[in-house]
Amino acid sequence: MATGLVRRAISRVSTPIQLQTLIRVRAHASEAEAQQVDLKAADQTNPKTFSIYRWNPDNPSKPHLHNYEIDLKDCGPMVLDALIKIKNEIDPSLTFRRSCREGICGSCAMNIDGCNGLACLTKIESGGSASTVTPLPHMFVIKDLVVDMTNFYNQYKSIEPWLKRKSENETGKEILQSKKDRAKLDGMYECILCACCSTSCPSYWWNPESYLGPAALLHAHRWIADSRDEFTKERLAAINDEFKLYRCHTILNCARACPKGLNPGKQIATIKRLEAPKLF
Ligand code: SF4
Ligand code: SF4
Ligand code: FES
Repeated sequence: MATGLVRRAISRVSTPIQLQTLIRVRAHASEAEAQQVDLKAADQTNPKTFSIYRWNPDNPSKPHLHNYEIDLKDCGPMVLDALIKIKNEIDPSLTFRRSCREGICGSCAMNIDGCNGLACLTKIESGGSASTVTPLPHMFVIKDLVVDMTNFYNQYKSIEPWLKRKSENETGKEILQSKKDRAKLDGMYECILCACCSTSCPSYWWNPESYLGPAALLHAHRWIADSRDEFTKERLAAINDEFKLYRCHTILNCARACPKGLNPGKQIATIKRLEAPKLF
């Protein structure tokens, strides 16, 4: 309305000074209108419901999904921001793991709207429907979104994830590697052991004790491919097993789930190719 009045006044002025004054008035009127729009926008909330898996070992009730509604206008953009907000402001008993908040530690892995991923790297879906957050699938739950990683870590430990040498390094210096050999580790060294891949793998779901799973096998190949390691044959022999290795059917759910863009299925296929000559 203020703009309309100013427009009508401009049509009636005759001198340049009058016109300048009116232009200034017009600018102030537009500013006031913009401020009013801002205030209205600030008044509006942007509610979002999170349906979160809850289970407490100290309480004998069945696991269930609990709905929490928060205002996205007052929340960071990632699912982890929403979980932290819910814990801080609504329900301090909500339990989940997190540390770095930037996709490095791997501790905030969970299932968000049906896909495994890191809560700190997964954007909140804006829009009406609720987001469902559950623990990593087919894992024993310790509490709420926290799963027992013991079997996963034991499998990682079983592939002996450290440099093994037969010869002494008498130089007293680091063991050098060519750029080409170093590049062979790309696509493997970046793994943060979040378990998103293993817990999305149907073969791992059905054989979690005997099949090593994509994460442990990716690390097995990381050391098999390392030019400085002198236990390549032994490493290959240790995993050349119907269950440990050959449960992988190359469906590649693991690659789709990896939040670091790695492809464990491809690394497993490479190990199988290295094992193949021994079969004939
Ligand atoms: S490719 Fe192998 S490891 Fe990856 S999801 Fe499929 S069966 Fe599992
Ligand atoms: S390969 Fe990817 S999904 Fe699997 S543990 Fe490593 S970072 Fe996580
Ligand atoms: S908090 Fe570290 S990866 Fe998400």
